[in-house]
Amino acid sequence: MAGVPIDKRAGAPLQRLLKDAARDGVKIYGSNGYRSWGWQRSLYQSYVNRDGRAAADTFSARPGYSEHQTGFAFDAKAADGRCSLESCFAGTKSGQWLAKHAAAYGFVVRYTPQNSKVTGYEPEPWHLRYVGTWLTGYLNETKLPSLEQAFKMPAAPSY
Ligand code: DAL
Ligand code: ZN
Repeated sequence: MAGVPIDKRAGAPLQRLLKDAARDGVKIYGSNGYRSWGWQRSLYQSYVNRDGRAAADTFSARPGYSEHQTGFAFDAKAADGRCSLESCFAGTKSGQWLAKHAAAYGFVVRYTPQNSKVTGYEPEPWHLRYVGTWLTGYLNETKLPSLEQAFKMPAAPSY
């Protein structure tokens, strides 16, 4: 068990990733895996209530659009809790380890400074999506900064 609800096709790669990170002295764990439609709806709505819709749309997916609903995404957190779900996670040992190694396990850091204009989301150095090593290899070779570009999809900065 990877300790987080995730599609079983991503479970073993995630376990390997967490184990190898720990071996390198980087203790991370997975959280916020699969979310139901209703869960995403309440989460998104809570951000709309707090920050307004325009702001919420820059960091939270509307229900039906979150990768968490696919069961293939999770949010990585450092065991020491540093920069949990914050942009400074990118500068931590955990964030750096993931940026460098996640692709080898078939995961992409999905929302980066390079692709935020395409995805419409602020960078989330903690949000990983399993796509398999064939696709992460393709992304590495082509240097394409987003899945949208890999699939020749239009940019989706808004709905
Ligand atoms: N935070 C990401 C964009 C989501 O809500 O799926
Ligand atoms: Zn996430």
